[in-house]
Amino acid sequence: MSFEKKILCIGAGYVGGPTMAMIAFQCPQYRVTVVDINAERIAAWNSDELPIYEPGLDEIVKAARGRNLFFSTDIQRGIRENDIIFVSVNTPTKTFGHGAGMASDLQYLEKTARQILEYSESSKIVIEKSTLPVRTALAMERILNCRKNGIRFDILSNPEFLAEGTAIRDLNQPDRVLIGSQETESGRKARQTLMDIYANWVPKEKIITSNIWSSELSKLVANAFLAQRISSINAISAFCEKAEADVTEVSRAVGMDSRIGPRFLNASIGFGGSCFKKDILNLVYLCRHYGLNEVADYWESVVKMNDYQQERFVRTMLGAMFNTLAGKTICLWGFAFKADTDDTRESPAIFIAKRLMEEQAEVVISDPKALKNARIDLAGFEDRVRYVEDPVQAAEGCHAIAILTEWDLYRNLDFNKIFEGMVKPAFIFDGRNILDHRRCFDIGFNVYPIGKPPLTHF
Ligand code: UDX
Ligand code: ADP
Repeated sequence: MSFEKKILCIGAGYVGGPTMAMIAFQCPQYRVTVVDINAERIAAWNSDELPIYEPGLDEIVKAARGRNLFFSTDIQRGIRENDIIFVSVNTPTKTFGHGAGMASDLQYLEKTARQILEYSESSKIVIEKSTLPVRTALAMERILNCRKNGIRFDILSNPEFLAEGTAIRDLNQPDRVLIGSQETESGRKARQTLMDIYANWVPKEKIITSNIWSSELSKLVANAFLAQRISSINAISAFCEKAEADVTEVSRAVGMDSRIGPRFLNASIGFGGSCFKKDILNLVYLCRHYGLNEVADYWESVVKMNDYQQERFVRTMLGAMFNTLAGKTICLWGFAFKADTDDTRESPAIFIAKRLMEEQAEVVISDPKALKNARIDLAGFEDRVRYVEDPVQAAEGCHAIAILTEWDLYRNLDFNKIFEGMVKPAFIFDGRNILDHRRCFDIGFNVYPIGKPPLTHF
């Protein structure tokens, strides 16, 4: 069968996999191939058990796989046979050398660029999908166009704004699709090719274009603004606890101002996920690089506030439980960085679990989807941690429950039964403000929400 366009994506992770599945699902006239160096991941994409959990993903993968969606480890062939290449490899924070802990580690990206150069036998459009430091496209351009053998590479920036847990909806009905390109004739042509792909299902007015640097920067700024809202409301939650105000009431009143808007104002134990911290630190690093120290400090405070909120949560637990957690058993409900995902990257739960163990508590972890990743994150702590999928069983015999992820299933459990099975006095620390606190208090729990006065029996 001949396809209208042949599309490759390098990197079959949380971004590449769902994004390509959506393109293939919406555009049966295109052939979409996703390649990865990780053979286990590719095998999982080809199986009934996909490597990532994302509501709605199974259905669209099943509809397109084998029809016009293919997963493979043959990177060389993929590059040779496709004209449009999305690059969606991981760009974690550097852990070594200059810029360690702040700058992006671009080794996977550069390796990919060199592979594209080595295996290409015809001109290609190369699209940055991974979140990257501003001006990375220039480096890509230099690597790819260093050989003058008649093969041309046009680089586009097309950042992905999907959020995990809602990826399929976000891909299906995006707020906007942003395409950054060079203002040259071939840059404009490449941009049009990519716009035509999205136009299969995204309304034209939502497909916006910009220069390539603005596009790269917009992704960092969107994430920085979103994270900043969370740090702002979390800062206010600390104040509410002192002032006997209720952060939910404050965020509702503030969010009804149409200039502010209601979303992303839920106080919590802090933001996690692979993007927010990494992108802000990257922005901070770039600002310092350009000598903009005040700007760098401003954005860095968003991350500092997030660290503070996690530590503050542990201190609240410690203070409430008579200043010692040694020998106590604490049940953590939720380990994923948010609900509806199995992803635990940068999850506040990792920090909190480790801090509780540092205080010599035993930890029981429950999560409907993330226990596999939790075990990896807490490798080496096996003597102090147990993993129990059922939240009611997990709480049995514990001194406290801490809610770390806002999974819906925690809202309507049998709290009378849970209370009976726990050591008294029993505590609930609701790090996501999802429970009916008054009801739990009436049952007998001592309840500590975020940003609200605690409800205690002593
Ligand atoms: C984010 C951006 O939303 C997305 O556009 C970008 O492409 C990738 O980064 P993601 O990290 O998947 O997406 O999830 P998001 O919904 O943004 O949540 C991030 C973190 O903030 C989670 O830990 C979540 O629990 C927390 N959060 C979110 C809050 O604590 N309070 C809120 O009000 C909203
Ligand atoms: P993201 O959340 O940005 O999608 P992930 O870590 O989930 O990040 O996915 C990135 C994927 O990119 C991983 O599966 C990794 O194996 C893959 N990858 C990294 N470098 C290469 C490379 N040179 N060639 C192919 N795949 C790569």
